Amino acid sequence: MSSRYEFGANWASFVDNHYSAERRQMAAEKLLAFLGRKNLEGIDFLDIGSGSGLHSLAAFDAKAKRIHSFDFDPLSVRTTGKLRQMAGGPQAWTVEQGDVLDVDYLEKLGTWDLVYSWGVLHHTGAMWQAIENAAHRVAPGGLFFIALYSSNVVQPSAEFWLDVKRRYNAAGTWKRRQMEGWYVWRFGLGGSPLRLPQLLKRISEKKRGRGMSYMTDVRDWLGGWPMEFADDQAVVDFLKEKFDFELVRMSTGEACTEFLFRNPNGR
Ligand SMILES: C[S@@+](CC[C@H](N)C(=O)[O-])C[C@H]1O[C@@H](n2cnc3c(N)ncnc32)[C@H](O)[C@@H]1O
Repeated sequence: MSSRYEFGANWASFVDNHYSAERRQMAAEKLLAFLGRKNLEGIDFLDIGSGSGLHSLAAFDAKAKRIHSFDFDPLSVRTTGKLRQMAGGPQAWTVEQGDVLDVDYLEKLGTWDLVYSWGVLHHTGAMWQAIENAAHRVAPGGLFFIALYSSNVVQPSAEFWLDVKRRYNAAGTWKRRQMEGWYVWRFGLGGSPLRLPQLLKRISEKKRGRGMSYMTDVRDWLGGWPMEFADDQAVVDFLKEKFDFELVRMSTGEACTEFLFRNPNGR
């Protein structure tokens, strides 16, 4: 399986069909809660793999001083640009196409107080290189907020999901809808309609968490390719050994583990 999943189309559909002021607010609240801050005043925010752009918008709402969002997929770039326009097209927020594996491009960006890359680096085809490239963009004393698919929680097995993804990416629209239905039945409802209340709770938690939509995330999960899994402790060790980054906090138990690191150098 060599093709890339068309992430941008999924994000464009998310913004067209699910964007709301409530999701916008949830995204900003969740971002600040994980960072343990009241706002992002005075903070430069680099969003690597901005997707829908909702979290760049969250940084804007949290009063970040400067925002730069980039994504590999042109439709993600366009969708992020749309949310930027919705915010009044601020000059301090730039959006463009870029690749986290392109070192020349990254070097031109300089370093940032807060480098954010949620659910992106494991979709590049070279996860550890992508983590390293992104970490180089963190300014001395700055923060690094990333989320990666965890090999510690994946069920059934990574091989099982690899096969599902291969079939989903090779499928046409109708077959994809069927596979989405299969996923909701088997993993959302656990094969029983009696679990509907739990599924509805999960859908609401997704929205209250990062302002996301359950079905957008289901498609992203089934399609998301290339993809790799990371062992939580291996990520912590890698960033300690290579960059001397300190782990500030980590949230585990979901498909993606969230990590917040600080670059102690230059204090
Ligand atoms: C699962 S989405 C996450 C989007 C967003 N960060 C969020 O949390 O909602 C992954 C995004 O990473 C982007 N991406 C994949 N490979 C990339 C690369 N090499 N450089 C930059 N962005 C990339 C995809 O196009 C997609 O928009």
